[in-house]
Amino acid sequence: MKALKRNRPATEAVPQATELAAAGVTIPHYISGHYRWAYLWRPGVWFFDHMPVINCIVFGQYRKMVDATLAHFDPTDATGSTVLIASAYGDLVPRLASRLGDNPLTVLDVAPIQLGLADTKLRQAGLREKAELHLMDAEALDFSDNQFDSGLMFLLLNEMPSDARRRALEHAIRVIKPGGQLVITEYGALGKEHVLHRFPPLRWMVMQIEPHLDSLWRNNLAEMVDDCARASGKRVTLTDCSLIFDGFYRVKRFRVEDLG
Ligand SMILES: C[S@@+](CC[C@H](N)C(=O)[O-])C[C@H]1O[C@@H](n2cnc3c(N)ncnc32)[C@H](O)[C@@H]1O
Repeated sequence: MKALKRNRPATEAVPQATELAAAGVTIPHYISGHYRWAYLWRPGVWFFDHMPVINCIVFGQYRKMVDATLAHFDPTDATGSTVLIASAYGDLVPRLASRLGDNPLTVLDVAPIQLGLADTKLRQAGLREKAELHLMDAEALDFSDNQFDSGLMFLLLNEMPSDARRRALEHAIRVIKPGGQLVITEYGALGKEHVLHRFPPLRWMVMQIEPHLDSLWRNNLAEMVDDCARASGKRVTLTDCSLIFDGFYRVKRFRVEDLG
């Protein structure tokens, strides 16, 4: 298996912004450049973490996306440990923690301010004890191979340039056990039917918000995930796909297996 770059060991405590350099985690250029105002700038973070704003960005589909995502997680013992690879606005984090029952949840994010939000929401929901928070880059996960039963990426891949996306997928699959699952909630493939796909000005508008989305739209996600699995010495089988908003968004579930 190809050696994958890792971060220095992560701490369980929620780091402050000033600890960022000390933790050896660098904010990726696509965040510090394009998404700074949305993910790092405090007034922006405050603004975007309101449900009407979130729903505006995802065309009113947030609830459906979260519901379809959470359908792949449940409180039975079989669910085991779950890692959320990058936090998210809205109530995904506390709802996932609640949904998992006694099964452990790990949430990572490269931005301390985002981990702070997750921390606050988990505390407000009385669920903080059930989750570990880690300051970590999805492109260089500092977890052991096969550490988790489930992994979730919620609207992360579309924000990444292609090379970063592949690294993040390779790491996600590396840390998921054979027999475990990777759930990916994302934009759907670019088609000819959906009104937001058909009209270039509408596509242009969406891409002003998500500049790396085009490369995700135009690639076969399942093939990309399988390629990345093979680079991590594993393979994946697509076991479920739900389409939301006529396929503009999708939730895909992959079973992760050893290659051999
Ligand atoms: C997963 S996306 C979700 C976007 C969506 N608009 C939402 O909030 O529901 C946003 C999060 O990903 C985090 N993120 C982006 N690139 C990352 C990376 N390489 N490693 C870890 N977290 C990352 C950002 O800091 C941010 O908290």
